[in-house]
Amino acid sequence: MNETAGFMAMKGAGYYSKATTGARDVINLAVPLIIGAVDRMELADDGTLLRVADMGCADGGTSMGMWREVLGHLRRKLPSRPVEIVYTDLPRNDFSQLFRTIHNQTDIESYYAELDEIYPFASGTSFHRKIFAAGTLNLAFSATASHYISKVPCNISNHVHMVGARGDERRAFEAVGRDEWANLLALRARELVAGGRLVFLNFGIDEKGRYLGHTGGVSMFDEFSRHWRGLAAEGMITEDEYANTNFPQVYRTIEEFIAPLKDPESAAYRAGLRLEHVESRHLVCPYAKAFAAHKQAEKFADDYIPTLRSWSEPTFAAGLSAARPAQERMRILDSFFARYRDAVAAAPAGHGMDYIHVHLICRKAP
Ligand SMILES: C[S@@+](CC[C@H](N)C(=O)[O-])C[C@H]1O[C@@H](n2cnc3c(N)ncnc32)[C@H](O)[C@@H]1O
Repeated sequence: MNETAGFMAMKGAGYYSKATTGARDVINLAVPLIIGAVDRMELADDGTLLRVADMGCADGGTSMGMWREVLGHLRRKLPSRPVEIVYTDLPRNDFSQLFRTIHNQTDIESYYAELDEIYPFASGTSFHRKIFAAGTLNLAFSATASHYISKVPCNISNHVHMVGARGDERRAFEAVGRDEWANLLALRARELVAGGRLVFLNFGIDEKGRYLGHTGGVSMFDEFSRHWRGLAAEGMITEDEYANTNFPQVYRTIEEFIAPLKDPESAAYRAGLRLEHVESRHLVCPYAKAFAAHKQAEKFADDYIPTLRSWSEPTFAAGLSAARPAQERMRILDSFFARYRDAVAAAPAGHGMDYIHVHLICRKAP
């Protein structure tokens, strides 16, 4: 079974943040939550280094607006303190694009030229491992990334995502999700300084059972599975390739997110991590919203499918046999996304990727 770190990366060269305006909106709408958490840290303006992290940052484009505000806030509030910002993601991430964005070589406005004494760095270490030395991080931020598990526990019969898994297969994914989340929180608890904060905007399952692309209407992961299965039925991919295609993701419920924070025996709790705030949020798919106004099915399909492709392509690519030449793989993927696009163009009603997040803020108790 593939390790996620061996193949996972959002589509590079800026494609991810260009195509994924919803993820950016989710982050921007959380700015008041993040600034509130920063203010509750009651930091002294004592000239010492302050360290913040953006974990699972992709190309950095979607969080740039938020960091401009938050770093600007820190700069005004604590003029004497240099700030180190560490972007983290998996080794295959397009870190070059990230640095181009930070250093104003893309069309996204960066904080870098605006603010003094900000020091950006990057780490390619998975958030399922130690990234920082103990007690050296003031603010751990992560958006739309914690649903990635390090490895899938089993193939999912007749589906490509754990939301479509049943019985033992579903339980196997949930168990990995539970263990890796407990571990991830314990790792962050260790890294945070006393009084530090963790702000995570997580994909998850809300109180109404809704999750990404499954909020009424056409369910996105069912569509992914249906079109991929269609390729298998026609022989364009093999049955093994269909079976080997499984998103390395677990969507957790609110209860699952907060369980280690309520359990005095959990490693995170024992390391001092305490729940400060939890809420679920629903953001309507920006492309479906625009379609409701412009009503052009072809345009909707052309705008909508790239956002799906920007994050899902590596999973479908990883399901294909390694023996296939690169060009053939790309032809299959192009054909797959073209089918999804054509289905949306032909019958656009109900399609959309609404975002469901579980926002979580924790403090590290002294
Ligand atoms: C959907 S993108 C979110 C990017 C950005 N944070 C945002 O909100 O737009 C998920 C990111 O998490 C990264 N990721 C997945 N597993 C990871 C891990 N174990 N450690 C660090 N990053 C990971 C992926 O490579 C990807 O860049």
